[in-house]
Amino acid sequence: MRRELLGLLLAAGMAVVLSGCKKPDQTAENGSSSSDRTAAVEGAGKGMWESPEFVFTYAENQAEDYPTTQGAYKFAELISQKTNGRILINVQAGGILGDEKSVCEQLQFGGIDFMRISLSPLSEFVPKLNVLQLPYLYRDADHMWQVLDGTIGKDFMNSFEGSDLVPLSWYDAGARNFYSSVRPIRKLEDIRGLKIRVQESEMMIGMVEALGASPAPMPYAEVYSALQTGTIDGAENNWPSYESTSHYEVAKYYTLDEHNRVPEMQLCSQPTWDKLSEFDRKIIKECALESAEYERRLWSEREKESEKKVRSEGCQIIELSPEEKQKFQDAVKPMYQRYCSDYMDIVDAIIETGR
Ligand code: GCU
Repeated sequence: MRRELLGLLLAAGMAVVLSGCKKPDQTAENGSSSSDRTAAVEGAGKGMWESPEFVFTYAENQAEDYPTTQGAYKFAELISQKTNGRILINVQAGGILGDEKSVCEQLQFGGIDFMRISLSPLSEFVPKLNVLQLPYLYRDADHMWQVLDGTIGKDFMNSFEGSDLVPLSWYDAGARNFYSSVRPIRKLEDIRGLKIRVQESEMMIGMVEALGASPAPMPYAEVYSALQTGTIDGAENNWPSYESTSHYEVAKYYTLDEHNRVPEMQLCSQPTWDKLSEFDRKIIKECALESAEYERRLWSEREKESEKKVRSEGCQIIELSPEEKQKFQDAVKPMYQRYCSDYMDIVDAIIETGR
């Protein structure tokens, strides 16, 4: 609640900044009549803007050194460079603007301008995205990127109509694995009956139920203490999240089941987007794509570093035998029809991609 309030106050602060902005070396007469494009070109010729025309907020729920946060800073830096400081992005990391679900709601009405979000909570706003996070959908990371970078990914980018959210780029978040504080999960029976934290997504609740465990949806920031106090018996996430949040300290059994790859997105608020010229939209989109390439490079390095750190801290890393992994896959298979029956043609096209 306090965080949501902070988000609103920040947005109100931004409005004050905006009302006092000045264009570089422009008189009041020509300032109001120039198009944004002309203004930007003039700004480029005469150096940085005296004060920005727009200062936008960007919400990120990961720590400062995390690849997605570094991607956000890169995005902000590129936009400032390309507009000579006319558009500034104020990145708020560490989840201080709130959990992903409430930040996304604020984007819808323009209380926050940009965010990076995992597809699990985002699918509650754009249900078709569930397709892209189905368990055991992709053969590996390359397969997922062929899909997202190809025509299927582009079609999904065009599926946001009516959501009040504008998709900008895909970010990497690797593969997710289960972990537990109470016992190692070596086979399907071991997860049965465990209370497992899931992201706030109907499909993730369904996935844990399909495996015979009990789902506990809650925001990311609450997981550490829930594990520590025993409110939950486990959770699931990728290597960098497991490491960065220190969940490994309180849940030492990490099972490499790779049940899903949940890509992430950078989003812009539709009300914010509506304020921008075509010229500025193009710059923002280009910077988002460039920041996404950067994030993907950082991601693959961080995955290795996080794995190394977690292993060196004495966690027990469990590999599933192919037979056991097949049992996990069989248990979740009915979810394809249950959650994505309207999109089975796309699911098939994804499976066929790269074959
Ligand atoms: C990943 C993802 C976050 C998300 C988290 C979660 O860490 O990057 O955006 O909040 O998973 O499990 O909730």
